[in-house]
Amino acid sequence: MKTMTCIEDLRQRARRRVPRAFFEYAEGGSYTEETLRANRADLERIKLRQRILVDVDSRKAATTILGEAASMPLALAPIGLCGMQHGDGEILACRAAQAAGIPFCLSTMSICSIEDVAGAVDKPFWFQLYVMRDRGFVRDLVARAAAARCSALVLTVDLQILGQRHRDIKNGMTVPPELRLSNLIDIATKPAWALSVLRGKRKTFGNIAGHIKGMENVNVLSQWIGGQFDQTMNWKDVEWIAGIWPGKLILKGILDVEDARIAAKTGAAALVVSNHGGRQLDGAPSTISMLPKIADAVGSEIEVLFDGGIRSGQDVFRALALGAHACLSGRAYIYGLGAGGQAGVTRAIEIIRNELDVTMALTGTKNVGEIDRQTIAAI
Ligand SMILES: Cc1cc2nc3c(=O)[nH]c(=O)nc-3n(C[C@H](O)[C@H](O)[C@H](O)COP(=O)(O)O)c2cc1C
Repeated sequence: MKTMTCIEDLRQRARRRVPRAFFEYAEGGSYTEETLRANRADLERIKLRQRILVDVDSRKAATTILGEAASMPLALAPIGLCGMQHGDGEILACRAAQAAGIPFCLSTMSICSIEDVAGAVDKPFWFQLYVMRDRGFVRDLVARAAAARCSALVLTVDLQILGQRHRDIKNGMTVPPELRLSNLIDIATKPAWALSVLRGKRKTFGNIAGHIKGMENVNVLSQWIGGQFDQTMNWKDVEWIAGIWPGKLILKGILDVEDARIAAKTGAAALVVSNHGGRQLDGAPSTISMLPKIADAVGSEIEVLFDGGIRSGQDVFRALALGAHACLSGRAYIYGLGAGGQAGVTRAIEIIRNELDVTMALTGTKNVGEIDRQTIAAI
């Protein structure tokens, strides 16, 4: 892993190791991928202020997230099918995050179940919830997350309908992969991946299979999931979830100032400025372009977290400068997982941590709490 010096190196290695259908599932965005590209392009446009001759010895990236100590302002975002990038991917990523002292968030659409992960790691993790039509199932999921002592519930609010990702359709992206000749040939050339997935605890959606009657069959399961995203979901459902979840609530997928104002009044502990990594509303603005307006409007009432396009410590610095309290990483750690399992996720976190540290030094910043708009040269 030592020769992996940046997230792009991990991405290249993941591309060689992970079957194309799953790599492109992680990589892609919705429709034209305009919003996916904007997330990165707008971050890169933000230039940092180079400061000199400031004593920057003994810098500190440590902070708190939702009041809990974190070694740096970063958490691992919920990623569906994480365990298809590498067998037992959710457990490995959670272990890497916990060893690094940062939060990990498990997706509803994970391969390893809540109980699998809880049984394999030492500390609590966050659980991400999709509200589905089957409210009895949602209630059970929330109870399972509470029983597993999850330390926060991340309610995703930007997916009442699934954004179309062309590449997934073209690749026959299903779980397990559609048995097309092209997929079989591709998997045959990725033996390390195949072995890790074969050895993994599960091959399908661990939180759902076996918890709904008749869902043992993977095709029936996929159809069930497809019909479960609930287009009626609204702010009343947020109230309902807040009422049945005993712990801290995070609302993920806020991209609008008016929505942020409503979110701040729900009693949620945090919101995540997010457009689902450019995978939902194509044509929506980049997250970084909306962050300062949202942080100005509600930053004093609710913790403002940020995701979308984070590929380096410089990006974390940029988001903090524009008002984020901490960031979530999606693809950056997923590339690490595909590239080398737990060691790859550890490397991804290390890379971002080191880059953030050097960026702090060269901008004359000793403490992450000092990072603000004064540290930006130009937007
Ligand atoms: C492959 C993939 C799967 C995802 N699955 C979920 C999910 O199950 N639930 C969720 O709330 N967000 C999901 N997201 C969105 C991420 O949590 C996060 O918002 C996004 O990846 C951030 O952008 P980045 O990948 O550029 O860091 C997914 C993103 C990717 C790339």
